Amino acid sequence: MKAKIKKNKKPAKVVIKKPIKKEKMKKNEEQKTVSDKNKKTWTALRGMHDILPKEEKYWKNMYNVSSKLAEYMQFARIETPILEEASLFIRSIGKTTDVVEKEMYVFDDSDGGKICLRPEATASVVRAYVSDGLWNNPQPVKVWYWGPMFRHDRPQAGRYRQFTQVGFENIGVLDPAADAELIMIAFNFYKDLKLPVEIHINSIGTPEERERYKNELLNYYRTKKSYLCEECRKRMQKNPLRLLDCKEEQCQGVKEEAPQIVDWLSENSKNYFMKVLEYLDELGVPYILRPSLVRGLDYYTHTVFEVYPISGEGAAQSALGGGGRYDLLVEELGGKSTPAAGMALGIDRSVIYMKEFYQQNQLRVEKEPYDIFFAQLGDRAKGRAMKILDDLRESNIKIAFNLYKNSLKTQLDIANELKVPYSLILGQKEVQEGTIIIRDMESGIQEIVDQKKIETALKKKLKKFDDTNK
Ligand code: HAM
Repeated sequence: MKAKIKKNKKPAKVVIKKPIKKEKMKKNEEQKTVSDKNKKTWTALRGMHDILPKEEKYWKNMYNVSSKLAEYMQFARIETPILEEASLFIRSIGKTTDVVEKEMYVFDDSDGGKICLRPEATASVVRAYVSDGLWNNPQPVKVWYWGPMFRHDRPQAGRYRQFTQVGFENIGVLDPAADAELIMIAFNFYKDLKLPVEIHINSIGTPEERERYKNELLNYYRTKKSYLCEECRKRMQKNPLRLLDCKEEQCQGVKEEAPQIVDWLSENSKNYFMKVLEYLDELGVPYILRPSLVRGLDYYTHTVFEVYPISGEGAAQSALGGGGRYDLLVEELGGKSTPAAGMALGIDRSVIYMKEFYQQNQLRVEKEPYDIFFAQLGDRAKGRAMKILDDLRESNIKIAFNLYKNSLKTQLDIANELKVPYSLILGQKEVQEGTIIIRDMESGIQEIVDQKKIETALKKKLKKFDDTNK
């Protein structure tokens, strides 16, 4: 055996080597597939999207405008869970609406029962009004919310499966001023963002008035059945008011000639609506009377409205927001008969509109500028700089810094880009002496101050603290 091995030493090597090579190759292959597997990447689910840091300025702006408006108009913040019982929305939005029929994310809960991701928040707020005893509080209860909603819709520009709404609900008062107030908030939201919008408005009266109108509408549509699209034929059976919502070209002529709901309203309902319009005139809020506006959710009564961008194209053509009165919903969801009204604005769509409009009109989203840049040089200075930054956190001075750049030139270049009036410079020498340099970025003049006096020294120099110095 030994001899054989010796004898076959050379070839044996080759023989042995080959399998090793193969083995190695196999191993490499395996490793490759493992690492390839590890390299699998994920994208957001269809219809869902990430809001990236570069977009934050738009979102932040919209949140700030909303919360300021809410505070001024005395709406308190409410947050309801994202998951609710599915039946809450089926009962409130209506079984035959698109949202309930096609768009709800419904799951079997492990406890039994069906739960869903909320497609909107009005029903949730009314649920909270009833179940948390808000009806015991002084009325009306005025609340606002900001958060994600979910609809399993066919994704397209401006239409997502997860989107954010800001909403305002006013529960417990029947007064045209409440309707006008909500429209005014919607209008002012866009006005504060410098975005031109128009309000489309209609009244759909009481359920009885609507029932009579539905019959009239059906009588009319029956005579035109041969001109209608497939979907409209279905709507005639299931939800005739939605006939007025059809966007198909072939149905437009029929729709234009259709009887108008306003002719079926009682004197009371007409007077109520006229009063809302009078308030809007007084406020200078531009509106368009749109007799075909019925909204896609079943809980509305009387005033309904939508907000549209002026001269929008593509995604910007769809409604930015909508709302109306829902006087029967509290009772429908188990509470006492209580009038209410509300509206919600779609933030994703508003951001798309804002980007388009700002680009077309060369507008910029203004960011609050930095007051100073803090530059540091050397290892010891870096640690000390972090401590000083931490100490200045509550000073209200807006400080830019970059702790990972070691070159003073690079840091001062950043300071120049940010157009800050002053920079703080901290080197080894200053750390030893307990001082810091304040550099006037325009003149280049530098002043050395005691580290303990940085805040006072800076506030003296910065214009925004003028009042505090007086
Ligand atoms: P809504 O008209 O269904 O009303 O939605 C309001 C806004 O949310 C829309 O105008 C739109 O901007 C945005 N939105 C709706 N669906 C999507 C989607 N798939 N993708 C992106 N944005 C979308 C309501 O939700 C009612 N709760 C409003 C209300 C409050 N009525 C009374 N109070």
